[in-house]
Amino acid sequence: MLTDVEFNRIVTYVKSHYGIDLSQKRVLVNGRLETYFLRNGYDSFEDFMSKVDKDPQGEEAKSLIDVLTTNHTYFMRENVHFEYMEKVVLPYLKNREARNKDLRIWSGASSTGEEPYTLAMLLMDYFGLEHRMWDTKVLATDISTRVLKHAVKGVYLKEVVDPLPEKWKRRFFKSISAEQYQVKDELKNQVIYRRFNLMDPFPFKKRFHVVFLRNVMIYFPDDVKYQLIDKIYEFMEPGGYLFIGTTESLNKAKTKFSYVQPSIYRKKE
Ligand SMILES: C[S@@+](CC[C@H](N)C(=O)[O-])C[C@H]1O[C@@H](n2cnc3c(N)ncnc32)[C@H](O)[C@@H]1O
Repeated sequence: MLTDVEFNRIVTYVKSHYGIDLSQKRVLVNGRLETYFLRNGYDSFEDFMSKVDKDPQGEEAKSLIDVLTTNHTYFMRENVHFEYMEKVVLPYLKNREARNKDLRIWSGASSTGEEPYTLAMLLMDYFGLEHRMWDTKVLATDISTRVLKHAVKGVYLKEVVDPLPEKWKRRFFKSISAEQYQVKDELKNQVIYRRFNLMDPFPFKKRFHVVFLRNVMIYFPDDVKYQLIDKIYEFMEPGGYLFIGTTESLNKAKTKFSYVQPSIYRKKE
């Protein structure tokens, strides 16, 4: 059981490095760290935290964020967004970018890959035979190395893949065991996975047409959330679309984004 001092040290560390506010999550932090320490043979909190502090890019620091993030996601989650992409955003971008044929789409908290793979399947399906003339690769980033490894491997339980349309399952997945499917290379090659902390300065050279930043800002305090939203605004093309979780919203007075419909926002054209 963590002492008050130990718990506060974790809360301060995670907030200052990753923006995540765990101050009300004492039971979760306790439970997950206890299991982690037991499994990995740490007998003292101090032993672990001093390693984390000494090397914020090191293995212990990576494990800490792997353990403390919540990575729940699924294919076609909040499908209203993918429908809106298909009906409104992609026709608009196909027309607008007809000359360059380069779409820049970012899934900024991609977790185990279900979100960026859903986007990539939609893009390949939407562009059909013309797809090979376009660059529609999706950039997918997350802070957790554990979830990124899972995403790159692309192995999912059959029950997780089953809700997808039959034609997508056939085209993009292969059965590798009685319980599992794996994403085929054709789809894998359409997603670029990178470890990226949303709190860091953005290293991107070009602006995005579409950003999915869903179900991650719920973990950030308001000041952190709106600083991030400002940064994203600067890195979007005029007329670009931002999708946030359907239970999330942006305060009109605190953002330059225009409201389109619940959880969908747009940079001014
Ligand atoms: C609940 S998942 C959301 C997955 C997907 N976007 C969805 O809506 O289904 C939240 C993800 O945000 C990631 N995350 C949390 N803080 C982050 C940060 N500072 N930088 C990058 N990713 C972060 C977590 O590792 C986790 O995988």
